Amino acid sequence: MCSLFLTFVSLSFVILINHSIQGAPSGERRSILPTCSLCNLVVRGIFQSFEIGLTDEDIVDNIALTCISRNLYEEEICRGVATAAIPTVRYIYNNSLVDPGNVCGILMQEANCTFSDRDKLEWSIAPSSISKPDVVQLTLPSSETPTIKVLHLADPHWDPEYMEGSNANCGNPLCCRASSGTVNTVEDSAGYWGDYRKCDLPWRTLESSVENMSKQHKDISYIIWTGDLVPHDIWSTSREENMLIHERLLNLVKSYFPDTPIYPTLGNHDAHPVNTFALPEITDQELGTGWLYQDAERLWTKFGLPSETSSTIRHGGYYTALIQPGLRIVSLNTNYCYTFNWWTLSSAKDPASLLSWLTKTLEDAEIANEKVHIIAHIPPGNEDCWAIYSREFDKIVNRFESTVAAQFYGHTHNEEFKLFYDETNTTRPVNVAYIAGSLTSFTNLSPSYRVYTIDGQRPDSSWSVLDFSTWTMNLTEANQKGPMHLPEWFELYQAKKEYAIMTDLSPKTVDDFFSRMLNDDALFQLYFKNYYKATDKMVSEGCDEKCRKTLLCRLVTSNIADRGRCQRIDRK
Ligand SMILES: *[C@@H]1O[C@H](CO)[C@@H](O)[C@H](O)[C@H]1NC(C)=O
Ligand SMILES: *[C@@H]1O[C@H](CO)[C@@H](O)[C@H](O)[C@H]1NC(C)=O
Ligand SMILES: *[C@@H]1O[C@H](CO)[C@@H](O)[C@H](O)[C@H]1NC(C)=O
Ligand SMILES: *[C@@H]1O[C@H](CO)[C@@H](O)[C@H](O)[C@H]1NC(C)=O
Ligand SMILES: *[C@@H]1O[C@H](CO)[C@@H](O)[C@H](O)[C@H]1NC(C)=O
Ligand SMILES: [Zn+2]
Ligand SMILES: [Zn+2]
Repeated sequence: MCSLFLTFVSLSFVILINHSIQGAPSGERRSILPTCSLCNLVVRGIFQSFEIGLTDEDIVDNIALTCISRNLYEEEICRGVATAAIPTVRYIYNNSLVDPGNVCGILMQEANCTFSDRDKLEWSIAPSSISKPDVVQLTLPSSETPTIKVLHLADPHWDPEYMEGSNANCGNPLCCRASSGTVNTVEDSAGYWGDYRKCDLPWRTLESSVENMSKQHKDISYIIWTGDLVPHDIWSTSREENMLIHERLLNLVKSYFPDTPIYPTLGNHDAHPVNTFALPEITDQELGTGWLYQDAERLWTKFGLPSETSSTIRHGGYYTALIQPGLRIVSLNTNYCYTFNWWTLSSAKDPASLLSWLTKTLEDAEIANEKVHIIAHIPPGNEDCWAIYSREFDKIVNRFESTVAAQFYGHTHNEEFKLFYDETNTTRPVNVAYIAGSLTSFTNLSPSYRVYTIDGQRPDSSWSVLDFSTWTMNLTEANQKGPMHLPEWFELYQAKKEYAIMTDLSPKTVDDFFSRMLNDDALFQLYFKNYYKATDKMVSEGCDEKCRKTLLCRLVTSNIADRGRCQRIDRK
């Protein structure tokens, strides 16, 4: 094995680690991407090393050696990530579940890498046998009709090892821990309440946040919680700790909202190893994800989910429940579309049968005259959601546009809208996904949460989102005031008030809002500011033409396989 090759393998692994932490590029924050040719070389290399009989330990050793000699990451980090990932990659390879030439096409779909045989990856969901009902123009209620408030918590990423005064300016994927190395200057030390650099939140910040939410919002009907509870220490997670974090955080929210139902989903960080959601067919104790689904089922039902959700949670981490007569929640495990989930590389069609189940669930809801709110972690139109999955999901939303009243996601850590359009009349918007910013400050983002106002309480309500407000706090200020003052939460913006042209939040109006932003830079600047939750560093960096295009393109891309609407942005 030539050392150049090993270097490539190891280097790329490290780049992938980096890429999977940073997530898909968003706005200005572009992570370094390996090129397609490097990716292909590495994939061939890894698979060759399986073939010539290198053990997992050999491969991990090689990766660690490169890490050290190149001074990329600390040995522990490279070993940790590689040790966790290699057995799954080997299994997928050894069982011929993957076409080596197709790997980079999926893994790096943003870079348009080629496929050796893309047809082999094809699948589609059988369309509903019930024909689509005529679309009735949505009539939003008059101001007198009853509404409900829904609290949306996204991406808390609690770091149990957060340590005030530790090094916030470290070279690891996550800092602000005792293990983050020497603190060289005063500016490098981690703040008391958190830190805008590569750090997740300490317990005290989460606790004071949840306490304040409960005081500030006494009228919450239920809570949606879109995953990623575990910190970004992807090299040192464990099953036990991940579940402990889940239980502690659920307990925390329950203690301040004792009578409020909680509807959770799993985020890519909630698995161990990170991002790894095996197909339900994999019953092997080590490689399978059964442990996570079983524990999620145990915790979620203990914290109030009805028992009829158990079987699908145990099967694939998803469920449906009736919230109130007329309103159903469908909680999906979209980690099966994540391009950094190794199992997405396997040629699995409709992993965990999730999308067929979704179709059936929406049919039943349509027949029962229920409206549905979809919640999940990864928005299916995001750059890091596999294109075929994204396309199939888009079709389902199209078919059931009159039943799906709204969609709610997290994962990007930013404040976003995502519009879905009609497949045939491509100018007609059919649905809106609301993407809420993260509670964690990781990275360079002020902590935030959302409260939606929803048309509701009558069985025949539209259950559409009438408005939302995003609450935030200023970590710089909180740290300056110190331990004796709790961080001050304030309302960052209310959608309708902030974006005056948004007279409502219907697909049509959000589409008008998008069109308006193409020409109205002041309006776009507002969207940009809120996208980054007014965080000083991001706002002061500003948004150049490339960043502007990225943000607007994200807003109108629900099927990542079709970026046609982005061209419209180009031309303007
Ligand atoms: C690889 O697959 C073969 C059969 O296809 C099996 O005998 C062998 O145990 C597998 N090895 C690993 C490490 O999974
Ligand atoms: C990938 O292809 C699309 C469509 O052809 C194009 O718009 C986009 O710029 C390409 N991306 C890269 C990174 O080359
Ligand atoms: C397509 O949708 C737009 C916007 O809803 C509508 O104005 C137009 O009449 C539709 N076109 C067709 C051919 O149905
Ligand atoms: C946050 O607080 C710092 C320190 O008081 C201040 O300089 C900054 O302008 C504040 N940022 C925002 C967005 O309010
Ligand atoms: C918490 O919420 C209350 C509203 O009930 C508000 O008055 C108070 O300032 C908040 N506390 C902090 C520390 O932000
Ligand atoms: Zn996250
Ligand atoms: Zn995530």
